[in-house]
Amino acid sequence: MQATPIQAPAPARTPEAHRPVAVTGIQSSGRPHLGNYLGMIRPALALAGRHDVFYFIADAHALTTQRDGRATRRHTHELAATWLALGVDPLRMTLYRQSDLPEVFELTWVLACHTGKGLLNRAHAYKAAASANQAAGRPADHGVNAGVFAYPLLMAADILVLGAEVVPVGRDQKQHVEIAREVAAAFNAIHGPVLVTPEVLIDGRVATIPGLDGRKMSKSYGNTLPIFAEVDELRSLVARIVTDSRPPEAPKDPDTCRLFALYRHLAQPAAVAAMRARYLEGGLSYREVKEELVGLLEAGFGPARVAYRSLLADPAELDRVLAAGAERARERAATVIERVRHAVGLRAGAAVDLAGGGRAGHAGRGTGDV
Ligand code: TRP
Repeated sequence: MQATPIQAPAPARTPEAHRPVAVTGIQSSGRPHLGNYLGMIRPALALAGRHDVFYFIADAHALTTQRDGRATRRHTHELAATWLALGVDPLRMTLYRQSDLPEVFELTWVLACHTGKGLLNRAHAYKAAASANQAAGRPADHGVNAGVFAYPLLMAADILVLGAEVVPVGRDQKQHVEIAREVAAAFNAIHGPVLVTPEVLIDGRVATIPGLDGRKMSKSYGNTLPIFAEVDELRSLVARIVTDSRPPEAPKDPDTCRLFALYRHLAQPAAVAAMRARYLEGGLSYREVKEELVGLLEAGFGPARVAYRSLLADPAELDRVLAAGAERARERAATVIERVRHAVGLRAGAAVDLAGGGRAGHAGRGTGDV
């Protein structure tokens, strides 16, 4: 929704000067896998040319499930090395660790006080935990920590604290971004156009990436293909992918085959078309498709894996890159949090020009498929 401006807008900035701000994060709770890459990392990197991009490692979100601090820190370094190995240029793009921005946590609380509890009751992750409990005859909230419940608020703060206009995510995160929009709108309805309402951006080519067992590829199902696994591990993971039992000579259905579902995201369009034809013709063994798949993964991620290994070998350098990124992100967050404090009456909160520094209150369609 569009809140009423409470001050005259500042003169429009020249379009050239205004690169839309894109923000996205990935939780540091496991090795990055093919689903993360295709669903979020690749589309997020593709924005870097036309957007001012902020990529972060959501280490505070990882606390909802992860109790081992060393694991959280290790996964944070792994993800930093992943982003860098896949093409983040820290001079042109901003890469940081969520917990280096205290503004995020401050905003989370302010947002909590502007969000109906019922909105969070409806969030998929919480609802799934509650219904699993009920199905097992336990009280709905059994074993559910309050962090799981508040997860969408922390995520809304990640997005809103930078005035993000675009949030590239995988489909599974769409509802979270929609919640962020609702929260921003609720805040603005009370306080005026303080927060920017973000657009969710989902890569239309990538529906759900199937995991090794055919369910959605997800850390929680233990069915992932980690993109930087060594080739031997990749080979044994791909070998586990279940196919039907058609013999090599039989024609096969590419559209129900899990191998093909992965293949088509990795191969060039002409190779995908040729592979589809070979499925339909018969004379192709699943073993051969598995070998091709391993070859594509190796060709696609092998060079980045080498870079990843050497980046990971120098955690102090990774920390330096993250600290420099956090400094840049905090500069942006500072202006937003100042406006928020001023609006709600927290801290000294010097009067700020609500119309300056961003396109607050900008409303849009909410979903953009590319
Ligand atoms: N919830 C996201 C995930 O599971 C990570 C995340 C946290 C995020 N905050 C975000 C993504 C803000 C986009 C924007 O991977």
